[in-house]
Amino acid sequence: MSKKNLNPGLRTIQPLCSPLSLTAFRPLKLTFTYRYNRHITYILAALLLCLCIVKSGRSQSTGAQPAHLTAQQFIDQLLQKMTLEEKIGQLNLSVMSGGAVTGTTMSADIVTHIKSGRMGGIFGIWDPAEIRKIQQLAVDSSRLHIPLLFGLDVIHGHKTIFPVPLALASSWDTALIRKAARVAGIEASADGINWVYSPMVDIARDPRWGRVVEGAGEDPFLGSQIAAAMVKGYQGDDLSLSNTVMACVKHFALYGAGVAGREYNSVDMSRLQMYQYYLPPYKAAVDAGAGSFMTSFNDINGMPATANHWLLTDLLRGEWGFKGFITSDYGSVSELANHGLGTPAQVAALALKAGTDMEMVGDLYINTLKQSLESHKITLAEINSSCRRILEAKYRLGLFKDPYHYLDLKRSKKLEMTPEHLELAKEAATNSFVLLKNDGILPLKPTGKIAVIGPLADSKENMVGAWNIAGDPQQCVTIVEGIKNFVAGDGTVTFQKGANITDDSLLRKRVNTFKKEITTDPRSAEEMIRDAVKSAENADVIIAVVGEAADMTGESASRTEINIPSSQQRLLKALRKTGKPMVMVLMNGRPLTLNWADKHANALLDVWFPGTTAGPAVADVLFGQVNPSGKLTMSFPRSVGQVPIYYNHKSTGRPFDEQKDGSKFKSDYLDQSNLPLYPFGYGLSYTKFSYGPIKVSDQHPKGNQTITATVKVTNTGKYRGKETLQCYLTDPVARVTRSVQDLIGFKKISLAPGESREVPFEISTRSLSYYDEDLHFGWDPGAFIIRIGTNSRDTESIKIDWEK
Ligand code: NOJ
Repeated sequence: MSKKNLNPGLRTIQPLCSPLSLTAFRPLKLTFTYRYNRHITYILAALLLCLCIVKSGRSQSTGAQPAHLTAQQFIDQLLQKMTLEEKIGQLNLSVMSGGAVTGTTMSADIVTHIKSGRMGGIFGIWDPAEIRKIQQLAVDSSRLHIPLLFGLDVIHGHKTIFPVPLALASSWDTALIRKAARVAGIEASADGINWVYSPMVDIARDPRWGRVVEGAGEDPFLGSQIAAAMVKGYQGDDLSLSNTVMACVKHFALYGAGVAGREYNSVDMSRLQMYQYYLPPYKAAVDAGAGSFMTSFNDINGMPATANHWLLTDLLRGEWGFKGFITSDYGSVSELANHGLGTPAQVAALALKAGTDMEMVGDLYINTLKQSLESHKITLAEINSSCRRILEAKYRLGLFKDPYHYLDLKRSKKLEMTPEHLELAKEAATNSFVLLKNDGILPLKPTGKIAVIGPLADSKENMVGAWNIAGDPQQCVTIVEGIKNFVAGDGTVTFQKGANITDDSLLRKRVNTFKKEITTDPRSAEEMIRDAVKSAENADVIIAVVGEAADMTGESASRTEINIPSSQQRLLKALRKTGKPMVMVLMNGRPLTLNWADKHANALLDVWFPGTTAGPAVADVLFGQVNPSGKLTMSFPRSVGQVPIYYNHKSTGRPFDEQKDGSKFKSDYLDQSNLPLYPFGYGLSYTKFSYGPIKVSDQHPKGNQTITATVKVTNTGKYRGKETLQCYLTDPVARVTRSVQDLIGFKKISLAPGESREVPFEISTRSLSYYDEDLHFGWDPGAFIIRIGTNSRDTESIKIDWEK
């Protein structure tokens, strides 16, 4: 027996001895019996036993999870073994260089921190082999072998990129949205991720803010349903499985209400406004079981969210009963100093005391909390609580049982971009497109000469939208490719870029920070337009694909003019002059001002940023394979001067006069209507739906009961189509001022041509309830108006009287 023979056996013994893989022990023992004489076998067996005892003894004193302990007991015992530095270490979250760096600071010396137990989690890396190495470093080299969390911005898909969240919301299909989050969770977990920084549930009423693209829009009711669907999609029913991931709800709170739509800006808001309109989606995410929250960058009434004790501890944990852990946003603990709250040590202490358990990037917790404890600025109980919550999250994720259970390298490849995932992404895309205008030109016939023109028509980089971290834009099918594939053999397709997305060099530089979304053509603007016009003149129809570059929305992407950039406007005007029919396909991550387009285009289809399957999805809708059914979840203003603009506004004491009869002293503008160009809930179809009058099960209900309001909807057009019926409530007399109407229900149905359906909405006293000045949630007896219709502007209505 040579050493050569023995060594490979011994090398295999070590991992097999681990309590994590005891089942693999038996075949190894058999091999030994056949290969070595009895003495050697005994010696080896004894050695093996010793090794196992040493190892399992170690596991008792480490992060590995013995089966006989409850979570509570296990974490109690672990906490007892931890030094102060190790406890503070769990509160530290660092970004891997090369990952998604969204701030100006970077954590230093990650490896040293991991080895010394000064790291709770890492984010910004999604290579399972690399993650395995890092996890191994934590498990093997740190004193207590506590595994790390691995987080990532999985915002609208992981490898398979789904439409951006504002688009997904436009589907009004919560089952579909949940499935999309599930697929994202499956793909991300297969890449070693156990924690995703999604959903973003910030209510947004100001389209100047670039991050409207990441949320569900302006309505708290719809936003709440979507928040819950996404949390459940990511987390599934059992967080300890290898294909479920912990959601991180963000950004707590009111991030979308920054003054003037400017990124990271201040928020000053009454509690009444918060409770009624802004907080419900966060609360819905808590109720859906979200495991973690992320604080927002903004201050709220003078106290930044990251240091806001009322927000994080009294409201989120106290009033709502949130049991998970709270991380800061990127550098938002250290940025408290910029808010003017003190020295680095002071702000770190403030954040911890407020309830921020984990610091994302900045290292203030690991560098200052020990001294703050020694100088009695914080307590050990506060450190223990935060550390406990993070350990609990790791426990729930099954990481103490098996730190590597997300790290099966074969699974990663198998689960990426499968045909099923791509099919779902396409279904999500087609359901998210909103038809804003159609004079009858759509659906197009896939024949004749089609001129596809525009800088976004053939740009893979832009199909994926903002916040695509792990997806490969090169895997996207562009709109030109999608159209060419669709019409192949029937029609002919030409393509011209026509214009650069923008000719503004500063804007281009900022947008191109991560990838080259805005390219500059070697031709002059005039030459590009001339070539495009020539192509349009030779065609039967123009499909103009225009709008924003992907990163003209997203983080740090506020705009004061929310229009189609001027280089493209010039192109559109030149194309219009050809007199050829023009369909505009719009790509954008926010509501845009579209007055010119609304007037001059024959049809206007908003496809947002559709993701990996952009091309086939757009082609399917343009050529009528799929009938568009998306509805806006943010109002589209006529001009930026109208923003913030939202459907559930108050009436004021001097309600505006829609007819504009010239009278003064109304709450309106001299130069513009108050009404949006396209209202909340708006979206057309290739077919028509007619609504009958509303019937209620009881027009004089009493007390705490539920009534039904039913409407008959008929497909009166030629195509099968999906319609989202929306139910709104107006409360004309209350103890505080109320919105002119609030969404209280919606249903998406599919009808064949000529088909009718009675669609019921259940209305309970909960739907009538609101927050009063004392923040009591309740309802008053009296008259209510129920409205049901195709959007927030066009509704049937009925008055009911509800007695106490
Ligand atoms: C900053 C963003 O605000 C947040 O949404 C994101 O999750 C973190 N950076 C991590 O990338």
